[in-house]
Amino acid sequence: MSVLNGKNVLLGVSGGIAAYKTASLVRLLIKAGAHVQVVMTPASLDFVTPLTLSTLSKNPVYSTFYNEEEANATWNNHVELALWADYMLIAPATANTLSKMASGTCDNLLMATYLSAKCPVYFAPAMDLDMYIHPTTKINFDKLQSFGNTIIPAESGELASGLSGEGRMAEPENIIQFIEKDLESKLPLKGIKVLITAGPTYEAIDPVRFIGNHSSGKMGFDIATAAANLGAEVVLVSGPTHLQMKHNLVHLIRVTSADEMYEVCHQHYESSDVAIAAAAVADYKPKNIATQKIKKTETTFTIELEKNKDILLSLGQLKKHQFLIGFALETENEIDNAKIKIEKKNLDLIVLNSLNDKGAGFGKPTNKVTFIDKDFNIFENPLKSKELVAEDIVNLIVKKYAN
Ligand code: CTP
Repeated sequence: MSVLNGKNVLLGVSGGIAAYKTASLVRLLIKAGAHVQVVMTPASLDFVTPLTLSTLSKNPVYSTFYNEEEANATWNNHVELALWADYMLIAPATANTLSKMASGTCDNLLMATYLSAKCPVYFAPAMDLDMYIHPTTKINFDKLQSFGNTIIPAESGELASGLSGEGRMAEPENIIQFIEKDLESKLPLKGIKVLITAGPTYEAIDPVRFIGNHSSGKMGFDIATAAANLGAEVVLVSGPTHLQMKHNLVHLIRVTSADEMYEVCHQHYESSDVAIAAAAVADYKPKNIATQKIKKTETTFTIELEKNKDILLSLGQLKKHQFLIGFALETENEIDNAKIKIEKKNLDLIVLNSLNDKGAGFGKPTNKVTFIDKDFNIFENPLKSKELVAEDIVNLIVKKYAN
């Protein structure tokens, strides 16, 4: 999944021949999952039509401060556009537009939007080779970079003038790749390895029957996605679930029983920085697994169970550098029981679910959790979607690594 997925990208188009390539650029941004809006300078309208960019971006395209053709002309709010954007990309950025950006000249909607933008700004210069190496251009590049804007260097090749050299706007594919790489390198969990358990475990009784539970695995999968979205490399060890995982930073290992989950977790624990036990591991398993299907000959039937190994307890005992997070599902004396689990399992944080809270727990899309850290600081949260709970958990990890 691209880092641009779900992000709002504001594309600013200025008037150079490379503007014709912005059709491909918008298409690639949409393909990466971004929401795109386009602002054009008046000069760029000669090179590419707003209709083309509007069709591809599925949004209106803006080039003036108000819509002249409307009977009651409405104002195109540049501040709103700028604040909507997670990222702004100015491509092509002509020498003229770059000079205005550097000096703060505000004579069109694109410039007003640029000056209102608080988000990261990328610019892809496009001009003839002599203009590209002119000292003023160099000064403008330096100035814009000193503002925190990022240059996407021009490429070499044939230019509209007939000359050949540096100054051609980077190809749309290369612009997208550049931005994705740059954003990935700045993600707060880049280089952090996270091990996560999820889902139920199935404990075999015979070849066709098992003891299991109703865990959907959603909480663990959502945490894995949230961590990977922030750049973490995730190993997700999941019991049986229908959930799928497509994130390229999540390595999903499917297991069935608690014993298998235990083995896989221990293989990956040492190299992990963070471990999160979100699985609903079966506490007990049949002592003996029948090799053949058990026939219903008896009127009553007893299965002898033995305790499963506690994966989280073992990870706590082996803990060196790892930040260890456990879950607790309690029905009474919730806080006290959770505190006991923190100490017993040597946790850094516990995520407490209370079954007394409506809308929380197994099979529900929402969860209401309380965080308790190892110093017994308590953080209550309102009822939220599991995706938002996952983001809260991952943000606590970000805070830890920000220090
Ligand atoms: N856990 C685990 N392995 C087990 C059992 C539990 O890794 N065999 C983990 C769960 O993933 C969860 C935490 O331990 O993060 C708490 O599990 P829970 O079942 O609530 O607590 P227990 O320690 O089993 O205690 P209780 O007897 O209260 O159920």
